[in-house]
Formats: sequence, structure tokens, C-alpha cells
Amino acid sequence: MPTNSHASLPDLAVSIKGLVKRYAPNTGKGSGGKDAAQGKLALDHADLAIQRGGIFGLLGPNGAGKSTLINILAQLVRKTDGEVRIWDIDLDADPRHAAAAIGVVPQELNIDPFFTPRALLDLQAGMYGVPKAERRTMELLEALSLSDKANAYARTLSGGMRRRLMVAKAMVHNPPVLVLDEPTAGVDVELRQQLWAYVRALNDQGVTILLTTHYLEEAEELCDQIAIINHGKVIACEPTAKLVKRLDTKEVLLTLGADLESVPAVLAPFAPELKDARHLRLHYRPSDNKFGALLDAVRSTGMEIVDLTTVETDLEDIFLELTRRQPAA
Ligand SMILES: Nc1ncnc2c1ncn2[C@@H]1O[C@H](COP(=O)(O)OP(=O)(O)OP(=O)(O)O)[C@@H](O)[C@H]1O
Ligand SMILES: [Mg+2]
Repeated sequence: MPTNSHASLPDLAVSIKGLVKRYAPNTGKGSGGKDAAQGKLALDHADLAIQRGGIFGLLGPNGAGKSTLINILAQLVRKTDGEVRIWDIDLDADPRHAAAAIGVVPQELNIDPFFTPRALLDLQAGMYGVPKAERRTMELLEALSLSDKANAYARTLSGGMRRRLMVAKAMVHNPPVLVLDEPTAGVDVELRQQLWAYVRALNDQGVTILLTTHYLEEAEELCDQIAIINHGKVIACEPTAKLVKRLDTKEVLLTLGADLESVPAVLAPFAPELKDARHLRLHYRPSDNKFGALLDAVRSTGMEIVDLTTVETDLEDIFLELTRRQPAA
């Protein structure tokens, strides 16, 4: 067992066990209700183990607890209970070193409008005690396509530029873990590609990435591991490919040449859904190799098939399926 975290790199970049956050009750005037009286339970014993070296995606619907979890890592929100280790450093025991191991880009951007990007990064580097000779201000601005804005007031930057500036700010102390809370919100397609390219490059250099996103295709493309959080609980955490495979169901959409009144009984094993009289949806499990059986069954009905398309399961389906199984708290 390693006794000195400096001597060997930790296996886990972030480890979260039984994390609970209950926001303080709202005692002021307002709508009232259970959450207001008891305080909102935003995280309900969440567990998460983020391997070193990967790109980890945290997905979940609005209000699931993603930002709460990230803000606890950033020490912007105090946890109610549970254990958090960043780079094997306990958040409670050594908050300063835990902070040095992580860079966080929060969902809400607050940038002092009267600082220039260069001044802001210098200030941030100073706060983290990065010596002048080791500062990479211009290199970071360059990497995020902001070098021509180095001396402009932050208030004159567009939303996408501000978000990129926040990424630069999170990286000034060269942390081994970078956390991005919905980094592509408000960033246009081209700059989004640039931002992802930068994130990938950092990851190639060994930085562990944790991000939240609402763009499921993006998570599927970018992340090697994905966790799904709902009602403050982590309900799935798996390698992306495994998660996608989990439902192991493919959909076949048949376009029919004549109206179909009712689904022939022989198709019952394929979970048929009649979309309308001319469109029939069937399902099969690729791992069972049932596609041939499906075709045979369809042929045996004598239906006239005009078109056939198969639909791959994507994260959206898995996400809906998983969150549907989870009863509301
Ligand atoms: N400061 C706060 N005080 C009280 N309740 C809060 C506070 N911040 C968040 N909440 C509540 O905690 C729950 C989780 O919020 P959180 O911001 O973590 O969700 P999220 O998953 O990041 O959602 P989104 O996708 O919309 O960003 C929500 O019900 C939210 O209303
Ligand atoms: Mg959020």
C-alpha cells in the first residue's frame, strides 16, 4: 500500500463516498413545501470513483445534483456528510492541498468586468502561489484562442470568450484534475470543437477531466467513463461502451406498403409498437443474434415492406430508461 501520495500517483483522481448535501431550509416567505421546510436534499449518498487519466462525464437532468457535487469539489459548497478525496487528499483533513490538485470551471461565470484576461490569470496564479517564472499566462490565453484579448476588459468579452477564460483560469496552477461544469453552454459550434480539442490535449498530457454536459452525443464521443446522477444519487457509472451496451436493444422501423390494422401475433416477441398504420417499430437484442429471426417473422406475415431502418441505442435512450426506473425522491 502506498504510504506517500507524492511518491506514487493515485489510482483515483477523485473518490466520493456517501456524499450528502442538504441545503439550508428556506425560512423566508415563499412557496413553502417540503424542500423549503427541511432544506433541499441535493445529494443523497452519492458515490463516485474517477480513475486517473480519463475523461469522465457526469450526466443528469436539471436539478439532479451535478453542480452541487462539483461545487463541493471546488469548495464553493460545504458538504453535509460523506467523504471526498481529490488526488488522494482528504478534503476535510487538508483542504488547501485538495484545492491545489483541482481546477474547476463553474457553471455560473462570474468574472470581474474590470480585469483584463492577462491580469485575471496573473492574479489567480498569485493566489495559488505560482512563482512568476512558472506562470503560463500567455500560453494559456493562446491555447484558448484569447491572446488577442489579453489586454481587453473582461466586460468586453463575449459569453464564449468568458467561458474559455474561465478554463484558462482553472488551469493556472497546473492541477492534475480539471473539472468543467457544462463547459459548452453558450459556446458556438466552432469554438466548442476548439474547446474539446484543448480538453483532449490536456487529457493527453495526463490531466484527468471531469465534465458535465447536456449534450449526450458529446459525452458519448468524448468520455471514456460516464456516470448518471438523478435525484442526488449516482444510478449508473460505467465505461461508455458498456453503458451503451447495457440496454442491448436495437430498434427496427418498418415502413409498410399497406395499412396495418393490428400487429400480427408472430411479431409479439419483438416488442412491437404500431406508430401509425404504415409504421411499425420492432425491437431485438443484438447479443442474442435475433435479427434473422425477426426478419423471418416479418416475412411470414406477408406484409409489404417499403423500407426498413435500424436505430442504434444512444445515451439518450439509456438515460431515459435509467431515470425512468428511479422513483422520484
Ligand atoms: N444554494 C442552494 N440553495 C438551495 N437549494 C439549492 C441550491 N443550489 C442548488 N439547489 C437545489 O439542489 C438541487 C440540485 O441542484 P444542482 O444545481 O446541483 O443541479 P444540476 O444537476 O447542476 O442541474 P442543472 O443541470 O440545471 O445545472 C436542485 O433541486 C436545486 O434547486
Ligand atoms: Mg448545474
